[in-house]
Formats: sequence, structure tokens, C-alpha cells
Amino acid sequence: MPNKVRKAVFPVGGLGTRFLPATKAMPKEMLPVVDKPLIQYAVEEARAAGIEEFIFVTGRGKTTIEDHFDHSYELESVLNERNKQSLLKELQASVPKPGSIAYIRQQEPLGLGHAVWCAKRLVGDEPFAVILADDLILADTPCLAQMAAAREQAGGGNMLAVMEVPKAHTSRYGILSPGKETDNLIEITGLVEKPAPEKAPSNMAVIGRYILEPTIFSLLEKQQRGAGNEIQLTDALSEMLGDVPFYGMKFDGTRYDCGDKIGFLEANIAFALHRTDMQDDMRDIVKKIANNL
Ligand code: G1P
Repeated sequence: MPNKVRKAVFPVGGLGTRFLPATKAMPKEMLPVVDKPLIQYAVEEARAAGIEEFIFVTGRGKTTIEDHFDHSYELESVLNERNKQSLLKELQASVPKPGSIAYIRQQEPLGLGHAVWCAKRLVGDEPFAVILADDLILADTPCLAQMAAAREQAGGGNMLAVMEVPKAHTSRYGILSPGKETDNLIEITGLVEKPAPEKAPSNMAVIGRYILEPTIFSLLEKQQRGAGNEIQLTDALSEMLGDVPFYGMKFDGTRYDCGDKIGFLEANIAFALHRTDMQDDMRDIVKKIANNL
């Protein structure tokens, strides 16, 4: 069985209710941060980690995602005629190689665990990554690449991205019981989905990057409902504790919760300030606004 992580699953079937009205007719994963949709950041992060196959678990109303990762011949020929070569190259480079991208429908919104389970046949019997596009991470080395390297050192198993959150926010995340900590790796000894602050085993939260062993599928197969009456990935993961190396990685970088309006606005400012082509203008704008507060 290959131990290299070659496939990534992108659950994009969610309704995006936290972002209405913007997401009424548009998938939340297509919301742009500066000039790029969230899902493109996710795919680029996967590529940077050596991912070769991209599996999207979609739902109704998500066809613009498929169009985004395909050629647009009219647009490309217009850009060519207008001699906009660098833009043309950039667009062409964002299209994954023929045959490397697959879409499968999650026909009912039964939760993240169910979405991942829908990718079972496409993933097969090998380790794979899961990326949640609304967790956008600004990092020098992309987060998934950091995780893949750490997982190789750990000898395989499950590797989750983790970060500290305010205790009052534990009910928004999967929360872990931390075991031994070495450098930036925390051994995970327990996992619980969205516990109330008073019940949370820690304030160390799982962020939307996972590298998982394929045995997760047989656990998800049971389709047991958990928090919010949904089939939770966290619940299936907690059944794997003790069976495989299981770590949380405190990644280097800043995570923005782009499923939340404020987090999304913050991401736009942070990413614009990071871009050499616009950071000077953006800094002036931010200062001007701050001075008027
Ligand atoms: C999901 C997971 C949760 C994780 C979070 C990270 O929750 O179920 O364990 O902490 O993503 O963003 P969601 O945000 O989809 O409710």
C-alpha cells in the first residue's frame, strides 16, 4: 500500500448558511479572498503538498466549482487576442491535469463524516488528505506540506492540524485531549466534537486539514449520528485512537475562518497586505480607515 499521500478530498457540499445572502446562488467555496476563490487556495495547498488527485464531494448548486477547474476556451482566446499572456498562463496553470480531478455528489447534507465517506471508492485503500476550504491558512510553507512531512517522520497514521482557541469557542470545533507533546506535535489521546467549554478536555482545536488512514472509511460506514445529529468525522476518528500513530500538528501559519463573515474580512485584509503588488496601497487604506475610527 502506498504510504505517500497522493489524494485529497475537498468536502464542498455544505449550504453555506452562515454566509447568506452571498451564498444563495453561489457556493461558499467560490467566495474570493482578494482575487482567488477559497477552493483554489485549497487546491494549490494540496498541490504544494504533492497531491496528484483531487476529489470534490459536491452537492446541488456547486457546478461553478467544476467550471472553475476547467478550461474556458472563449476566455482563454480573448486573453490571447488581447495579449494578456501572464493572466492566461495563470488561468491555465490553475486547471488540474486531465483525469486528476473527480466530483462525487453528497446527496444529503448528513455531515462532514458522511461527506468524507462519499469519497470512499475514489480514495481506495491508501492514506489521503481532507481539506476544508473555509479554513484558509496563510503560511510560508503551506500547512498540508508541513503535515505531510511531519507524518512521514511519525511513521504514517493520522495527522490533524490543530491550534489553540479561546475556551469560550470550543463548541465550534473538534477538541482534543492532548498527550505527550514534542516540538510542534501533540499526541492525541481523545477527540470530541464541539464540546461546551465546561466539558471540553482542552482548548486545542482541530482545524480543517487532515491526513487520514483509509481505515476511517469502515468506521464512517456505520453512519452513526453525533453532535448536531450529523455523521461526524471527529467521532470516527476517535475510534481510531490507539490503533495508528495519531498526532495533532501545531502548524506554522495563521488560520482564518472564512466560513464566518468577520474571519473572511480579516482574511481579505491579511492576504492583501501579504501581496507585494498591493500591500502598499492596502496599508494606506487600512491606516486611513483606522484613523477615522
Ligand atoms: C468541522 C469539524 C470540526 C473542526 C472544524 C474546523 O466543523 O467537524 O471538528 O474543528 O471543521 O474548521 P464545521 O466547521 O464544519 O462545523
